[in-house]
Amino acid sequence: MMADPSHGRASFWTQANALSRKNLTFQKRNMRTNIRLICFPIFLCVLFVALQILVDNQLDKPNFRCGCSGNVCGIEYSTLTQATFCPILSPPEWPPLLQIPAPEFRAVRSNSLTSTDLPKKARRKTGSCPATSFITGNNQSFAEILTSNIFTSFAINSSDLISSLASNVFGTATYPQSNNYIEPAFLSNLPIYSVQRRCISNSAFSVVINRSSIKTELQVQCVQGFYLWRNSSSEMNDEMYRGYMKGNSELEINEIVGAYDFLNSDGNNFNATIWYNATYKKYTPGLPIELVRVPRSVNLVSNAYLQFLLGSGTKMLFEFVKEMPKPETKLRLDLSSVLGTLFFTWVILQLFPVVLTSLVYEKQQKLRVMMKMHGLGDGPYWMISYAYFLAISLLYMFFFVIFGSVIGLKFFTLNDYSIQFVFYFLYINLQISLAFLLAAMFSNTKTASVISYICVFATGLLGGFLFQPFLQDKSFPRGWIIILELYPGFSLYRGLYEFGQYSFTGNYMGTHGMQWGDLSDSMNGMREVLIIILVEWIVVLLVAYYADQVASSGGGKSPLFFLQNFRKKPLPSFKRPSLQRQGSKAFVDMDKPDVCQEREKVEQLLLESSTSHSIICDNLKKVYPGKDGNPEKFAVRGLSLALPRGECFGMLGPNGAGKTSFISMMIGLTKPTSGTAFVQGLDIQTHMDAIYTSMGVCPQHDLLWETLTGREHLLFYGRLKNLKGSVLTQAVEESLKGLNLFYGGVADKYAGKYSGGMKRRLSVAISLIGDPKVVYMDEPSTGLDPASRNNLWNVVKQAKQDRAIILTTHSMEEAEALCDRLGIFVGGSLQCIGNPKELKARYGGSYIFTMTTSPEHEEEVENMVHCLSPSANKIYQISGTQKFELPKQEANIAEVFQAVEKAKSRFTVFAWGLADTTLEDVFIKVARGAQAVNILS
Ligand SMILES: *[C@@H]1O[C@H](CO)[C@@H](O)[C@H](O)[C@H]1NC(C)=O
Ligand SMILES: *[C@@H]1O[C@H](CO)[C@@H](O)[C@H](O)[C@H]1NC(C)=O
Ligand SMILES: *[C@@H]1O[C@H](CO)[C@@H](O)[C@H](O)[C@H]1NC(C)=O
Ligand SMILES: *[C@@H]1O[C@H](CO)[C@@H](O)[C@H](O)[C@H]1NC(C)=O
Ligand SMILES: *[C@@H]1O[C@H](CO)[C@@H](O)[C@H](O)[C@H]1NC(C)=O
Repeated sequence: MMADPSHGRASFWTQANALSRKNLTFQKRNMRTNIRLICFPIFLCVLFVALQILVDNQLDKPNFRCGCSGNVCGIEYSTLTQATFCPILSPPEWPPLLQIPAPEFRAVRSNSLTSTDLPKKARRKTGSCPATSFITGNNQSFAEILTSNIFTSFAINSSDLISSLASNVFGTATYPQSNNYIEPAFLSNLPIYSVQRRCISNSAFSVVINRSSIKTELQVQCVQGFYLWRNSSSEMNDEMYRGYMKGNSELEINEIVGAYDFLNSDGNNFNATIWYNATYKKYTPGLPIELVRVPRSVNLVSNAYLQFLLGSGTKMLFEFVKEMPKPETKLRLDLSSVLGTLFFTWVILQLFPVVLTSLVYEKQQKLRVMMKMHGLGDGPYWMISYAYFLAISLLYMFFFVIFGSVIGLKFFTLNDYSIQFVFYFLYINLQISLAFLLAAMFSNTKTASVISYICVFATGLLGGFLFQPFLQDKSFPRGWIIILELYPGFSLYRGLYEFGQYSFTGNYMGTHGMQWGDLSDSMNGMREVLIIILVEWIVVLLVAYYADQVASSGGGKSPLFFLQNFRKKPLPSFKRPSLQRQGSKAFVDMDKPDVCQEREKVEQLLLESSTSHSIICDNLKKVYPGKDGNPEKFAVRGLSLALPRGECFGMLGPNGAGKTSFISMMIGLTKPTSGTAFVQGLDIQTHMDAIYTSMGVCPQHDLLWETLTGREHLLFYGRLKNLKGSVLTQAVEESLKGLNLFYGGVADKYAGKYSGGMKRRLSVAISLIGDPKVVYMDEPSTGLDPASRNNLWNVVKQAKQDRAIILTTHSMEEAEALCDRLGIFVGGSLQCIGNPKELKARYGGSYIFTMTTSPEHEEEVENMVHCLSPSANKIYQISGTQKFELPKQEANIAEVFQAVEKAKSRFTVFAWGLADTTLEDVFIKVARGAQAVNILS
């Protein structure tokens, strides 16, 4: 005999080790799911690369490159689009232009603008419509003196072209661009305007300008520019507003070049406001802002003031505008950065259903409870499950990022890896905590899986089509975005969006993506997202642990369980004053002496605190509250029972008698309504966790992992029971052999492939592994063939030697074979208790005599029986076959045999028999009697 293997309860690390080994095996079996999981991101990455190649191919076309002619490339050989990619070592200088409205839009007298000083409408048609500007200020004459010098007549000195070009005012109606490498006015079909005080008729001419390497012949058209005085800036404002293009009615458009408000300017002080039309500066999201043609108007008015002070000979020439030089660029668009946000959100969210369903599976299959009942504490369960899912998620993300990087997706390669790591790490943790939290709310894997997948896809789509537009809309309040980001899916989306933005611009500009320093950018939401995720992770984890403790599996703690530590702990002993007991005694039926005796024994034991009894139930009650108007149901009405070590107690009873309720209380699934029980001296109300370490349970329905083998189940539960090394393997081997699961490779087949009987035997083996002191078996032999059942009985017989076993069964044969004592449980209370022989003696007390003759001799048989036993009772009669109950004290077996011999000589006896009462008869009798009483009461 080996040494007692149960050296106390398994430590935290032993439990953790057992669970992690089980999980690893389980995961290994899930290969197909794992591969599918990993294939999704790989497929996406490959798809992105393929699309990127297509796009790059397209971008390599000459359209998107600096134009060339032969071997020489440069702006001069480029179209407007191509020119943007050319290197510009020395950008051209362009004459500064004034923004002038197109002739058909220039302000004229009309229905909305009634001022008489405006040009007549008819002048639009002739093409000679002047370009109007407004002026105002404190001193009208001063303002008019200034503006009178601004536009002069056209004068060019060909020997000093540059300064003479600068002293003339040119304008254009073309829209500006975002840079000035090329002034679009000189490339468009629209004319260049020469703005003069007065135009002589037919004043179109051409000028050749030679700037840098560009030689342009300009078609110049004269436009009359003039300034109109307005009494106040609000008046100008009003007129400009009314001239603005409204809707589509072109008739009402009256565009103004601009306006000056000279305020309090005078000879000592120049103070002016310049008005210009900013609508020419179209803003397109994602593109640089266009320049506006303001510098020339500033120059004109400054020059005019200078001339007012110093005379008309003074000139402040504004010769040209010129952009900074730039290297050759290439159009680079990174698809993964643009589309990645949505798809990568899916990739990461995809882990959520995996974790959730895995958690719900263990809950749905009651495996979590099963593990708990075999001693797995909440601490190791949480730690290992969490670490396990974290490891899986990290591995997944690791592969994803590595693969994406290797394959060259800019989304990964351009952004700083340490930021990516921190972001993914925090998010994964938040996601796992969320799964733990939600697992407490689901009880079905299918529901959990469907709902979580819907959430995953909806989150991605909402992120892409609702949340992202908000992010891009600069006018959307930032506060609302932060509120939206409180939803974890959106904070993930935002983080990925920022990565995408940085890698896109980084790629476009040929620099890098997000660096730690960029977190302080005002537009970068990454900092907020990281903080939100971190805080949510901690909060959700705490709430999830709390919800698990309240709603979980096990005994179900009160919502205020954490306050328990502050209350006074009850002593872990069953020595408690029993004050109420006197009262309860009155309800005990005095006609069940055996039950009463048991109750007295329990009371005695409770006072003594002896440890010879493994299980002591003290007036255990369970009442289910009434529902839908039904009265409350008494499942167990005051059960007292004491089981010494080495006893197997059989619990018999019809269906619905309350056996399962009783077992549920004993194994901690439900709390007793009143009363309690002590297992190994520990109270089930308060010390269930400690009891679990020395308890074994074989539940009515097999709770097994489909993809683990029988041996793996036993190894796992054995480890939970603190078995190690060779002791463990030996115990598992013995257990497998004992229950006939060892041969023919059964031990290494998946439990999911077992037949019903094999599962049953495995469940029994699990309940017995690791030498538990108390074992509960709920109908262990259902569905077993006779040979297996015999095997199982032998195992149980051997096992009961040093432990207490409570067994429920419907098989009288089993009860007789295994149980030292039996209790018949009807209507929530014990009707009788005792060993099988006693019960038979007490409730049987008669023989059953059967005889079959031809029908005409029936009366003779009856007479004979009454001779043998005057109070015999006929219990059955049909076509010659009769059954009688003969009280044992009247019937003498020898006399019966003699009487039968005599009868045989008188008439033909086809068959006869004499039998002792069986346990089954006892059971039926007790059950019927008790039910009749219950109905009467
Ligand atoms: C208005 O400006 C003119 C020209 O500078 C000046 O002669 C005149 O005194 C100013 N009037 C007032 C009221 O300041
Ligand atoms: C033209 O420019 C040259 C060189 O600055 C100057 O000598 C000449 O006087 C100018 N002619 C006129 C008409 O201003
Ligand atoms: C502007 O002021 C002048 C002089 O005070 C006045 O005659 C004229 O009517 C005013 N114009 C408008 C449009 O109010
Ligand atoms: C300003 O420019 C826009 C665009 O060309 C034009 O539609 C609008 O009418 C202009 N407004 C004024 C007051 O000139
Ligand atoms: C310019 O005009 C504004 C508006 O009238 C005034 O607030 C400001 O003090 C003036 N500046 C100077 C230098 O006179």
